[in-house]
Amino acid sequence: MTKKLGSQVLVTGVAGFIGSHLAERLRSMGLGVTGIDNFSNGYEENLTALKEDMDFKLIRGDILNPNDLSKACEGVDSIFHMAAQSSVARSTEDPIHDFELNTIGMLNVLECARKADIETILFASSSTVYGEAPVPTPEEHPLRPISNYGASKAAAEAYCHSYSSLYGLRTASLRYYNIYGPRSRKGVMFDLLQKLRKDCHRLEVLGTGEQKKDYLYVEDVIDATLLVSSSGKLKGEAYNIGSGESHTVKELVDHILRNLGLNSTKVIFRGGVSWAGDVQNTLPDTTKIRKLGFAPKTGFKEGTSIFVKWYQSEYGKISGR
Ligand SMILES: NC(=O)c1ccc[n+]([C@@H]2O[C@H](COP(=O)([O-])OP(=O)(O)OC[C@H]3O[C@@H](n4cnc5c(N)ncnc54)[C@H](O)[C@@H]3O)[C@@H](O)[C@H]2O)c1
Repeated sequence: MTKKLGSQVLVTGVAGFIGSHLAERLRSMGLGVTGIDNFSNGYEENLTALKEDMDFKLIRGDILNPNDLSKACEGVDSIFHMAAQSSVARSTEDPIHDFELNTIGMLNVLECARKADIETILFASSSTVYGEAPVPTPEEHPLRPISNYGASKAAAEAYCHSYSSLYGLRTASLRYYNIYGPRSRKGVMFDLLQKLRKDCHRLEVLGTGEQKKDYLYVEDVIDATLLVSSSGKLKGEAYNIGSGESHTVKELVDHILRNLGLNSTKVIFRGGVSWAGDVQNTLPDTTKIRKLGFAPKTGFKEGTSIFVKWYQSEYGKISGR
């Protein structure tokens, strides 16, 4: 695997949730890691394990700044592009910012790679590129995003494909579904816990609770990402990265309350769509990634328990007493 990635790897968005886990894994494989982050949504504490590591180089910089990016690309053999504006809601409020970061940011990374002769680029795309699609959704399904975030990711995927075709870069787009685990400070699991920390007697949940999503634990997403980098077809191909199982928000609420030992919390579902652009039912067809040998190691129940434990260790115990 390391032969294909080379010896020095760049992780953009390294101080974020997935980027920081990925950087740690790459270091544990013996690869040198350069990380770039502007800390707009990154956390210093996500990099605690790498702080004293001589083979980890942090560039505090912006992927929209060509100078920062070319500095980050120095001596690099492969790139994992994780930096993004990753909120669907924010992409509705500020579509231009979302496009700049997610699409132009991707183009900047590809252009920098082309100029620096970096062959391999793995791109963190998103299941939102499909919009509301029949499930399980295969990679070949037409991309009809219903959010600006999904649209900016779909456009970025298109550039990965054109750069492979025009310049022979080895690229793949990883369509991540809902990823969760320690250091995830956004998304439905985090929001539910934040609300319960404020008031554990009453929980108001966005939507009907019947929204059904695929959840994948963060270490599994790293496994899948590395599998694509080592054994995938890197010609602008897309890969669905999910568990292949979906769960309703109601199920998720039940697990979380059980984990916290809360049995008398009044749960109120607000009804309607959770937020504009939210896809109500997601489930990937995972045949393609499973053919590479992928099988998730952490199930939904176990992963939720780990997440609840991590949350309480960071933000304090949630207790009904
Ligand atoms: N977490 C999920 O459930 C999920 C699902 C689908 C796709 N993704 C994609 O995976 C990738 C990683 O997601 P995440 O959850 O770790 O997000 P995150 O927001 O935690 O991490 C993104 C990182 O990028 C950094 N960043 C933002 N703008 C930057 C810029 N201009 N220059 C340099 N750094 C910048 C942020 O500071 C942050 O540290 C993103 O591309 C996201 O769109 C995530």
